[in-house]
Amino acid sequence: MAPLSQQLDESTVAIRDVNSLQPRVGLILGSGLGSLATRIKEEDPQATTLPYDQIPHFPSSTVEGHAGELILGTLNGTPLALMAGRFHYYEGYPLERVVYPVRVLGRLGITQLIVTNAAGGITPEQSPGCLMLIRDHINMLGANPLRGNNPEDLGPRFPDMTEAYSGRLRTLAREVAAKQALSIGEGVYAASLGPSYETPAEIELLARSGANAVGMSTVPEVIAARHMEIEVLGISCISNHAAGISPHPLTHDEVMETGREAAPAFEKLILGVLAQL
Ligand code: HPA
Repeated sequence: MAPLSQQLDESTVAIRDVNSLQPRVGLILGSGLGSLATRIKEEDPQATTLPYDQIPHFPSSTVEGHAGELILGTLNGTPLALMAGRFHYYEGYPLERVVYPVRVLGRLGITQLIVTNAAGGITPEQSPGCLMLIRDHINMLGANPLRGNNPEDLGPRFPDMTEAYSGRLRTLAREVAAKQALSIGEGVYAASLGPSYETPAEIELLARSGANAVGMSTVPEVIAARHMEIEVLGISCISNHAAGISPHPLTHDEVMETGREAAPAFEKLILGVLAQL
């Protein structure tokens, strides 16, 4: 297999061949939050859609009907690379492959990344339908995407993670939310491996560790983005009470349904943020 840097160059060239737009911001859409993908296609007649399987070296999807696509276009004045669909560690990819698309976005020149996800609420303020700005994270995956050989052209061997989630972007998002009369929480996101949901005892452990919400994505992508010094804004859509807090068993359908319900407020917030970037 070609070295990582060469793979990234080949992916980047293939994308630029289709659309020469220089994206400034990357946006990763989480479960049930796909409506912005439709929106960008409607708003920007020049927008182009690249199915992941048409981009050289992109991981190929393991989940049927869940392939995903990269959309390049301008939304609310901001040139954007939008990922509709992401790769998860629980699907079986090595973390290096999970974060590959983020590195491609970095190579395309994004300076900011907005990551979104659906998450289980752990603390009482994080109830289904609420949005939470991610202030910090706890990596419970037992793995790190930067493990192994460090390509120095991507970033340093030991990147700092003190401000993984930009304070500046959180302030900006809070201001946009306030103008929209949208109440938005803030908290710590814990990444659990999945694909089984957590046990009540695991949620108790996370609660005592200071986590406010839990999900199965985002953390590897944020580590890879920070490695490349990309500024990150993370937003969780709380789709359910985490295990043991919820009186009933968790289902993927509930996660998707709440995502869809929260989508209009979420979409408006992102559009407001994009207008300021
Ligand atoms: N746990 C883990 N991941 C999730 C959850 C949860 O409760 N809800 C949505 N994604």
